Amino acid sequence: LNIGVLISGSGSNLQSIMDACAAGRFKARVACVISNKADAFGLERARKAGIPALHLDHRAYSGREAYDEALVATLREFDVELVALAGFMRIITPVLLEAFPMAVMNIHPALLPAFPGLHAQQQALDYGAKVAGCTVHFVDPGTDTGPIILQAAVPVIEGDTEQTLSARIQKEEHRLYPEAIRLFTEGLLEVNGRVVVVGT
Ligand code: GRF
Repeated sequence: LNIGVLISGSGSNLQSIMDACAAGRFKARVACVISNKADAFGLERARKAGIPALHLDHRAYSGREAYDEALVATLREFDVELVALAGFMRIITPVLLEAFPMAVMNIHPALLPAFPGLHAQQQALDYGAKVAGCTVHFVDPGTDTGPIILQAAVPVIEGDTEQTLSARIQKEEHRLYPEAIRLFTEGLLEVNGRVVVVGT
């Protein structure tokens, strides 16, 4: 199964997905990595792994739909069947979602539906939450509202900063995203309305 990974930054989740593929954890490969930012470190990670790494600048397009059409065209070129958003800081439109129905995933650094949107870890700290975590979900037209696939919780520890909490969450992200992809590649995810039933 060909995975297309969309990034904007560091790409540590991308790395965990590439590593899981290389380790033979599931029958899939990262077919291409696309970033809207030219200087995203994740592009270097992809090149190092011998994976096509492309920069598609959103500013070169007239709007979100036009940009998503370019994304779809590129993903199709690489025969992508699963799109994994991994720190991709763009709002996705139905243009992309309709091209890959129930085949666009995202990872969010909070236990959704709590703390959607930006700075989720800081939101959790400000709220005084005692438990934080991450969520892998299918993407729908809303922001961080799609059907939940897997979640992992971590404690919030007294004295935590956005950085220390983010690091604790990221460890779980790097385990959770490859696991969600494994379930997808093995056909073990059934979407029932907004509930994802995970098979064994
Ligand atoms: C992660 O915290 C992820 O949950 C969020 O963006 C961050 C991406 O980090 N969506 P990285 O680029 O994978 O290191």
